[in-house]
Amino acid sequence: MPAYGIVGAQWGDEGKGKVVDFLAEEADVVVRYSGGSNAGHTVINEKGEFALHLIPSGIFRPHVDAVIGPGVVLDPVVLLGELESLNERGVDTSRLFISDHTHIVMPYHIMLDQLEEQARGNNAIGTTGRGIGPTYVDKVARTGIRLGDLLDETYLASRLENVVAQKNRLLTRVFDADPIDFDALLAQVRSWGNALRPYVASVEHRILDRLARGARVVLEGAQGAMLDLDHGTYPYVTSSSVSIGGACTGLGISPREIVGIIGVFKAYSTRVGAGPMTTELDDEVGHDIRERAWEYGTTTGRPRRVGWFDGLAARYSATINGFTSAVLTRLDVLDGIDPVKICTAYEADGKRIHRFPSEPGLLERATPIWEEMPGWSAPTAGITDISQLPPEASAYVRRIEDVIGCPIDLISTGPRRDESIVVRPIILR
Ligand code: IMP
Repeated sequence: MPAYGIVGAQWGDEGKGKVVDFLAEEADVVVRYSGGSNAGHTVINEKGEFALHLIPSGIFRPHVDAVIGPGVVLDPVVLLGELESLNERGVDTSRLFISDHTHIVMPYHIMLDQLEEQARGNNAIGTTGRGIGPTYVDKVARTGIRLGDLLDETYLASRLENVVAQKNRLLTRVFDADPIDFDALLAQVRSWGNALRPYVASVEHRILDRLARGARVVLEGAQGAMLDLDHGTYPYVTSSSVSIGGACTGLGISPREIVGIIGVFKAYSTRVGAGPMTTELDDEVGHDIRERAWEYGTTTGRPRRVGWFDGLAARYSATINGFTSAVLTRLDVLDGIDPVKICTAYEADGKRIHRFPSEPGLLERATPIWEEMPGWSAPTAGITDISQLPPEASAYVRRIEDVIGCPIDLISTGPRRDESIVVRPIILR
């Protein structure tokens, strides 16, 4: 004890990278528990600006162990590139530990992700094209290759031969694509094994031992709860358990270890890829927010869809995760926008809806009911003290607190570590 889960509470891109980097000051271990290089966590600190896709955002704190857990799917090309670029910029990566149970994103997963998206036509999900879905499919189908497999050359060769034969049948006969050259792939995968060997560890035991000795462990989520495979807006979701339950299954820790579940909310909504987004703004305000906040994907560069804060989705997310604290990010983006709006109900089929709906198709038909609040003209950007917030911004924060049903303990007023208002300490010493 104790572990703290940091979960994206909307559709991802809430600013978890900054929040984890900030909270890592008080932590001993930071662990990524789900997703893969579809994530893009931006961290700005004294060494510069970094976009991390796989390495936990705690890597910048020299006293912190940065751990990649077995629930993550790992693309070695991305990871090795990330390690190289961090090392070039003077970041010590010797405290990175990767679970030997982590599944490897293979080149055929990336090919299949793209081929499957093309085959979906108008029903495409808008995946990041990073091979995430097909890697999780293989994990569940028990045809995945795990990091530990890369360390045993004989075992790797026989297992990979079997899997590649199956993938080649799929690639050539279903998708009419070129087959994979087994020998070239084996050589590539062996070289990954050699490069990653120093980082491979039995992290489950390591985390449990550290927890037993009282270390503070931050569980770093990726994406957002509305993209959760089970609880999100299926089928427009990612393929992993984004919510807090994923931290337990993805790491092998008991829910009893988790003393704080922190939901990270952006002061408005964004979504990348297809799928319903009831509060989406297709107007000047949406355009203005996208440009001033540079709402473009860290991983794919795609423009993010922008909308007002969706209170129903937010409350649903708070409920399924049981948030004990919330963090509100990018409040400063709304500076000067008047009025600001929160969606507090939907309307569909002539009825008012007060709970995030699960009936198929209902969300697609729903329209938002807005609550309008006065905006604020004095800037909140860079404010570090709650008493300095303009009264209208304070009222907006309090209303969001009401809507989600849990206290906002940290407010982010800019991308840098120090541009933060600590309302109440989240990680207790
Ligand atoms: P996948 O995870 O690449 O399979 O993509 C599935 C859906 O999740 C798509 O709509 C993606 O845009 C979305 N998605 C995946 N990762 C992220 C993320 O880190 N931020 C925002 N959206 C994401």
